[in-house]
Parts: sequence; structure tokens; C-alpha cells
Amino acid sequence: MFFDYTKYNAAQQPEYENKEELQEVIKELSSYPPLIFAMEANELKKDLAKVCKGEAFLLQGGDCAESFNDFNANNIRDMFKLFLQMALVLSFGSGKQVVKIARMAGQFAKPRSSDYEEKNNIKLPSYRGDIINSCEFNDFARKADAKRMLKAYLQSAATLNLLRAFSVGGLADLALINKLNLGFVRRDDIDSKYESLCHKVNEAIKFFESYGISSKNDSRLHETKIYTSHEALLLPYETALTRKDSLSDNYYNCSAHMLWIGERTRNVNDAHVQMLSRVCNPIGVKIGANANSSDILKLCEVLNPNNEAGRLNIIFRMGANKISNLEHILKDLSKEGLNLVYSIDPMHGNTQSIDGYKTRKFDDILQEVKSFWHIAKVNNIIPGGVHFEMTGQNVTECLGGSVNIKSTDLQKRYETQCDPRLNADQALELAFLIAELMNEK
Ligand code: PEP
Ligand code: CO
Repeated sequence: MFFDYTKYNAAQQPEYENKEELQEVIKELSSYPPLIFAMEANELKKDLAKVCKGEAFLLQGGDCAESFNDFNANNIRDMFKLFLQMALVLSFGSGKQVVKIARMAGQFAKPRSSDYEEKNNIKLPSYRGDIINSCEFNDFARKADAKRMLKAYLQSAATLNLLRAFSVGGLADLALINKLNLGFVRRDDIDSKYESLCHKVNEAIKFFESYGISSKNDSRLHETKIYTSHEALLLPYETALTRKDSLSDNYYNCSAHMLWIGERTRNVNDAHVQMLSRVCNPIGVKIGANANSSDILKLCEVLNPNNEAGRLNIIFRMGANKISNLEHILKDLSKEGLNLVYSIDPMHGNTQSIDGYKTRKFDDILQEVKSFWHIAKVNNIIPGGVHFEMTGQNVTECLGGSVNIKSTDLQKRYETQCDPRLNADQALELAFLIAELMNEK
């Protein structure tokens, strides 16, 4: 076995009643083909090394949790289109390559703040994501079922297959960018901003064509690359999909290109950090408002002992009202000469409950991004990327934005299985605002 997680303290794991079945599932998963290859993870590391140097920008995003019920081609296509639109806005606005990493094809397991959920005096185990149990509130649904890992693997394989097909099969052709609209962009201002961007890109393409460079003969203009990522939370799944690369003899987690460790499982001596310290993929770690710089230095020692650029992505998620804690952290880290990607997740520190709905305000999200940006700049640190929970669908889960979702709208299309996501309008609007930040001197 690559790594015996049972020898370590492991937070946020389900209790499987049927141990024999768990072992059978692990055995079966271990025999399945890898979802990604070592070389692809290495390519991503190279792309992220460019982010470290400020030559590229990281856009990471997707659902809070993928679900078995919402698994269909249209949802995957719409998320893919949204990624392309946002990346276009960011790269055209900044002149930088945008590295796209989707929270897709494996983002199923969820850490929870409580092991149990209580409703009407009934206490049941918490929902931990479709790879573990089901979100309906009954005894049977909440039992951890190991076989769900096999279903999650198959859904991930099919999702990745479609993402790979879209990336090379015409949908990413720059000459067709006008056709990327998701069909419901209702805000005239975002719509017309996007149209004017498309117009400029079309002009640039015409200019290149006059030099014989066209999207018909240059794959850089008609293909794209989208990497996958998820929180490496469920230890039996992650270890079963970790494989030794025959070329380098190094281990890679082959369930996604990049894996991250959540805020609740980032203790350096515990199973999650120890497991990912033994694989060569690019790794992310979420850092909440209570962290200090020595926590991050310890994580760097264990997860990136060679200070390799592109290996480690520090994802801050402090909340708009606590982001000033970042000032002393970045001041300390700026003295260390660390090769890190610094990015901001402005979602998880800004969750609040309004009228019984878990939601987030667009203005808080924007404010946290802006503060991150300015604190980084003051400390000569490169703000390397953003990490969003978003969807290509027209949901009403986050408040505000030009599309002006109000608390009374929340019940209209509140579809998430877990945390509230930006809808496509709100996500695209943020991309325009971040492009402006990238251009600030
Ligand atoms: C998440 O990204 O969905 C998540 C749970 O993040 P965090 O660990 O930062 O709370
Ligand atoms: Co979330």
C-alpha cells in the first residue's frame, strides 16, 4: 500500500459499518485506470511555476460539491463555457496566460463543521458529499456507503472525458467566442462588455490571419487546457487512486491533476498532509483567518521541502472582515524567499445564513479579493489567482452583483447541495473586476 492512513490521526472521515465492503471497494478502485497521468500533473506544475513568477494567473473554480443527481452533459458544458469566458476576460484584460483548474471530475467529499445534523428532534450523521452518503434527511440516506466511491470514480471519468473533448473539439475555438454565451446573460452592462471584448478579439484574429496565423492552423487558437482538482478528503478513495509513475518511480495521485487540503484537515502531522507530502502533484492548502505565518512555514517544510515553484498553492479564505490578519502573515512570508502560488478563495470566509439560506454577498466576495490584492502588493507578493465556487447555471444562491439578487430571490433557484455558488452572471462580472485589478499599477 502506498500510504497507510490508518496509522495517522485523520479528521473528517466517515465511519463505514461494513468494513469488508470497504476493503472490496478499495481493492476494486485500486485496479481501475488512473484518471490523469503523471506528465499532465507535471505540466500543471510548470504552468503554476509561471503563476509564481507573475507570468500567468490562476483561475480555479466550480461547484462546492458535485452531485450524482445533477450529472449531465449540459451542466458540464455550461461550466466549461463559463471557464472559457472568464479566462478570456482575464487574459485579454491582463495580457497573461490564464491557468484553468476546475473543481470538477472528483469534487465530491465535504468536510463538515459538525458530525451530526439535528432537525425536529431527530439527530442524524451529517451529509458528507455524494461520494460518502446522500443529502436526504433519513437514516438510510445518511449511512456511509463505500460503493458510492465507485460511482464517483465513474462520474469523474465521464466528466473528464467530456472536458477533454470540449478542450480540443471546437468549443474552445477563439474564432467562435461569440457563441460561448450561456443564453441567459440578462445584464445589459455585462453583456455589452463581453460583446465588445469579443469584437476586439475578432479584430485581433483578423490581424493575425493577415500574417497566416489562423485558428484553423494554430492549435493555440482553437484548443485549450483545463485541469481538474478537488479536496483530497476521503482517504480510502485518494490512496486507492495513487499510483507509482513508471518513468520516474514517483507517486502521483491520479484522481485529479491538483489536490488540495482543506482548512479543517491541514494539521501537518495528520493523515491528509502526510499523504499529499508523498505525491508529486501540485498541491493546495486552504488557510483560514486564525492561521499565522509559522503554520504556513511548517506546511511548506512538509509539503514543499525543495521550495519547488508550482508545487504549493496557498489558498487564503479568511472572510472580508478578517482579511486584515493577512497583513502580518504576508509581511513575515515575504522575507522567506518562498516559491509559492498565493491565491484567494473569497467564498468560504463569507458564508452567512439569511432567511434560513446559506448565502454569500457579492460585495463581501469582491472586497476580500481587493484586500488580498492590496495586501499582497504592499508586501511585494504576487497575487497569483482566485478560487471560486461558481456554476454555469442561472441560480440564485449568492446575493448582489449587477444582476442584483435579493434575499427574497434566494428561494427561486437555490440548487446547491452544499455551499452557495456565484451564478454565471456574477462570476463573469467578477472576472471583469479582477481584470481591472490586474491592470492597476
Ligand atoms: C471547500 O473548498 O469547499 C471547502 C470546504 O473549503 P475550506 O476547507 O476552505 O472550508
Ligand atoms: Co464549499
